[in-house]
Amino acid sequence: MHKVLHNIDKLVFGRGAIAQVPDQLQAWRNEGSGSVVFVIDHYFKDHALLEKLGIRSEDVVCYEDCDVHEPTTQQVDRLRDQIIEQIGVPSAVVGMGGGSIMDIAKALSLMLKQEGSSSLYQGLDLIKHAGVPHLGIPTISGTGAECSTTAVLTGPEKKLGLKCAWTVFDQVILDPELPATVERDHWFYTGMDTYIHCIESETGIHQNAFSRAYGGESLRLCREVFLGPDAGQNPKNDEQLMIASLFGGWSLTYSEVGVCHALSYGLSKILGYRHGFANCVAFQHLEDFYGPAVSEFKEMLGTNAVELPQGLSRDWSDEQISAMAQVSWNLPHMWIHALGHDWQKRISPEEIKDLFKRL
Ligand SMILES: [Fe+2]
Repeated sequence: MHKVLHNIDKLVFGRGAIAQVPDQLQAWRNEGSGSVVFVIDHYFKDHALLEKLGIRSEDVVCYEDCDVHEPTTQQVDRLRDQIIEQIGVPSAVVGMGGGSIMDIAKALSLMLKQEGSSSLYQGLDLIKHAGVPHLGIPTISGTGAECSTTAVLTGPEKKLGLKCAWTVFDQVILDPELPATVERDHWFYTGMDTYIHCIESETGIHQNAFSRAYGGESLRLCREVFLGPDAGQNPKNDEQLMIASLFGGWSLTYSEVGVCHALSYGLSKILGYRHGFANCVAFQHLEDFYGPAVSEFKEMLGTNAVELPQGLSRDWSDEQISAMAQVSWNLPHMWIHALGHDWQKRISPEEIKDLFKRL
């Protein structure tokens, strides 16, 4: 069976595009109850940009803090219950922030129409009813969450996405002016998420002409942004990285991620590491899987004067390492892509533990 790519219905790209949000929301307001839920990164509380969203008195605005931990099933359940109690089912959900906020907005849009906890729906095609219309406004580039068909949540048992045709945003506003305020290291780690998506996407059995086309162009843009003569944070690179993130997201959606993401999920689930940072911590030690790309990644670290911590595993207990290896082992789709259908013959849980001990 070939994959079906469920895509964004409407996409607006360009400087100042955020000003079009109220118009985009109007059709949904006319159809539903009229109210809109805005899930916004707490960084933007009281920020002048909020005036451009057309927030009305009947709307609900939720400022979420994703600095300390990645989105959880509990967090989405709490938001869903609170909103239903306050205004019932809204006309639409808007997410404005980084990848974590994108994931919360996507999950919330689905959960407003499902019964029970979101942890029941972690996996492929477990969602029973279409969610409410949702619009994404990414304010940092790299995660691909703006176009991916999954809403990744950490639950009581696993870190896994709510993945189905209805997860993908109906509308996305890509405004390259928004990432201008992102702190440098965070910008780099998140940008590297895209680089790693593309390397993993093209290094595995699910790669194909579609994933290579988007991944190849995304890699070209990443190389300009992180290694080119004008490398670093600047308006031109903000535009390029925003498109690299989108293309990287499409590339991995039509292929798969691999070893680095499998390890990164373990780091996030057990130690709470943020996704982009966790990827970087793992990727630097994966020469035997992604050789030349790891060398290039280290060059990017140097060019952008970013230093990654070393010897982290010295402070981890054997129990923690085993737990991380277990999280990784439970992501067979990533291992199949990277190592083949007989992946369990090629790597053991003990060898996955050894990979964590490298970090
Ligand atoms: Fe990622």
